[in-house]
Amino acid sequence: MIIAQKLADVRQAVREPRRLGRTVGCVPTMGALHAGHESLVRICREECAFTAVTIFVNPTQFGPAEDFTRYPRPLDEDLSRCRAAGVDLVFLPEAESIYPAGFSTYVEVEGLSSVLEGASRPGHFRGVATVVLKLLNLVAADRAYFGRKDFQQQLLVRKMCRELDLPVEIRTCPTVREPDGLALSSRNRYLSAGERQTALSLSRALQLAEERLQHGERDVAAVCGAMRNLLETAGARPDYAVIADPETLDELKVPTQNMVALVAAQVGRTRLIDNVPITIEPRS
Ligand code: PAJ
Repeated sequence: MIIAQKLADVRQAVREPRRLGRTVGCVPTMGALHAGHESLVRICREECAFTAVTIFVNPTQFGPAEDFTRYPRPLDEDLSRCRAAGVDLVFLPEAESIYPAGFSTYVEVEGLSSVLEGASRPGHFRGVATVVLKLLNLVAADRAYFGRKDFQQQLLVRKMCRELDLPVEIRTCPTVREPDGLALSSRNRYLSAGERQTALSLSRALQLAEERLQHGERDVAAVCGAMRNLLETAGARPDYAVIADPETLDELKVPTQNMVALVAAQVGRTRLIDNVPITIEPRS
């Protein structure tokens, strides 16, 4: 496994596989790797001859009051996981090489970056879009793998790649969950035992929405109210609980055939998100 820190080294590492016509796949991460990240690596390895993982806690996507400094950075464990997963290249850039002094070029995906997560975390998606573009360029990836867990992020990355004509195919992979339904997240390690229990309310709220809509509920506002209620009763502080169009994220007032339910909630000091696709049969 090659470990590259310098930009020139990562470019060099992908030169040979590219010369041989091998498909280069990239899995961008912020580290603190878990089985969700590992599932992206597994799918990448199935589809690509060369698998690169990037580990970079990207400062530009954190707000001033967010958890950038305390974000977990278990580097040795991350490298062991990458080795065990059969990763070919780990790119571990330093912040100064991604954002040298005087850096002033950012990517803004208008619209999608200002709703839901974007409304609650101003500037977050500008940081995500900018770093993802840089990482995919540096790795010269043919394909890049993202989790459905961050539903809005993968939509935004897809739109950016399409609109900036990047020669990268974006793959979105299923959300990996604990047996009780909690979506895996690097931030779950912040949770106390009690908060871990409260955190279950996110996936339960989504399940409730799915059941109600599949049983013919037409009142989307009532479904959203029920999700909020479930979150609050469990002790979480909901930020949003919505049913939206899975392409545009426009919030729906009446059910359509394909929808996505999305929730974000604060559990103690930790902000968690989750979502599920919901499909209903067209009414005859
Ligand atoms: P991070 O939170 O480390 O996530 C890296 C990738 O793993 C993302 O595509 C995310 O959706 C995916 N992922 C996280 N939890 C998952 C789960 N339970 N199941 C499946 N996939 C999961 O997302 C980021 O980092 C950053 O914003 C990044 C894209 C790296 C840009 O800095």
